[in-house]
Amino acid sequence: MTIFSKIVGVGSYLPETILSNAELEHRVETSDEWIRTRTGIESRHVHGPKETTSDMAFHAAQKALAVARLSAQDIDLIIVATTTPDMVFPSTACLLQQKLGGTHGAAFDIQAVCTGFVYALSVADQFIKSGQATNVLVVGAETFTNLLDWQDRNTCVLFGDGAGAVVLTGSDTAGILSTHLHADGRHAAMLCVPGHVMNGETSGNPTVKMDGGAVFKFAVKVLAQVSQEALNAHNMSIEQIDWLIPHQANIRIIEATAEKLKLPMSKVIVTVQRHGNTSAASIPLALDEGIREGKIKPGDTCLLVGVGGGFTWGSALFKL
Ligand code: UT7
Repeated sequence: MTIFSKIVGVGSYLPETILSNAELEHRVETSDEWIRTRTGIESRHVHGPKETTSDMAFHAAQKALAVARLSAQDIDLIIVATTTPDMVFPSTACLLQQKLGGTHGAAFDIQAVCTGFVYALSVADQFIKSGQATNVLVVGAETFTNLLDWQDRNTCVLFGDGAGAVVLTGSDTAGILSTHLHADGRHAAMLCVPGHVMNGETSGNPTVKMDGGAVFKFAVKVLAQVSQEALNAHNMSIEQIDWLIPHQANIRIIEATAEKLKLPMSKVIVTVQRHGNTSAASIPLALDEGIREGKIKPGDTCLLVGVGGGFTWGSALFKL
């Protein structure tokens, strides 16, 4: 009997405060028109003053657990993909476990920036397939706006906050078919936060630095490549994909990827216009929205593809 990791619950959370492009016009020299035409973004959500990554992860996880009809005590493993943990330690996954009321199993974070959710899903899949875990909670959650320089128009208009969660369980019916992960650290400087806390002081610059044009080209190249790699692994053609759920960074990156794959945009889930780039949260947020809007249905074949700092990139092909 083949053991598949099957997605049995999906949930997401967006903080209450919405930041529009018009409001950003007051902060930096930009315009609603520039942001819309260059990125597709119209607004993004920003966390509340006391709201942390684990708070948002908690709301998303609660919804996913409710759909799965499982409680925190049924979960063997929690993996949180985040670049913006509440603390240096303990992990956001441990803080989330405590908020959910869980007391057993394992919990850890994964750091692969915007590819974090795909990495976390892949790790969860290995745990289930090897029999190490039965029910796994995978969350992508970010308070990414904490990393922004609000004076830098090149970056501050692009990102937002949020969380998305899935519950996976071992099953003999098809779920995750395969995952493919990649990294190439030679491109570290293309997108990074080159600072941290050292001896109690901020060292370096702890805000996002990015070569936007280079990231754009790299993202389109590897998102198309990794999609094709997933299809080739199963001798599938693009026509057999019901939904592409890509990392939501820029509508032009998403459209260029779809064009390269010869996939109509009607089969692509797009949320970037209302979420901005929420890093590790973007894919599970898009997945949840696609399901709630009645687009993605049980039995559909879905391809998740992500790319982010590192550089990292990867895919997860699954049947819902
Ligand atoms: O998860 C991955 C995270 N990062 C990304 O996905 C970013 C990928 N890159 C992009 O999305 C795009 O490259 C950007 C949206 C960042 C930029 O779009 P672009 O079409 O590549 O514009 P550009 O870099 O060629 O810049 C065009 C101009 C520049 O002015 P000059 O040098 O031509 O005078 C920028 O200074 O637009 C200027 N600019 C802005 N103008 C108004 C840059 N940001 C802004 C802004 N408002 N917010």
